[in-house]
Amino acid sequence: MKGFEWDDSIALGIPAIDNQHKLLFGWVNALNEAIISGDGHEKVGEIIVNLISYVTVHFSDEERLLLSYKYPELISHRKEHDYFVTRLQEIQTSFNDGHEMEKEFLDFMVEWLVCHIKGTDQEYSRFIHAREE
Ligand SMILES: [Fe+2]
Repeated sequence: MKGFEWDDSIALGIPAIDNQHKLLFGWVNALNEAIISGDGHEKVGEIIVNLISYVTVHFSDEERLLLSYKYPELISHRKEHDYFVTRLQEIQTSFNDGHEMEKEFLDFMVEWLVCHIKGTDQEYSRFIHAREE
């Protein structure tokens, strides 16, 4: 996987959330670099723990924001988040069982995040911006 840098094409125009998205990709890139540079199982495992905990914090912040705006699609949005966290936990379990972190897992993370941000995150962003006009 080539590194993925956050750019304006996935900006929501909500600074706090955009910053969290940047940090999220930062964790994915840190994981990618640790794997490429052949860091040990322990180091890679630590990054996976940090990545999952940051994803969890970010999703709950986002859901709290959507709740505060009484966003009508909150439940289905939360389901997408839950799906991603479950997949990450499965990847982590497999890694902890001694399997390699595969390139496909990193590709999956980047693709899912970009797709989610460009899709359903953009939808709530439009809703919030419309409310603020
Ligand atoms: Fe989201």
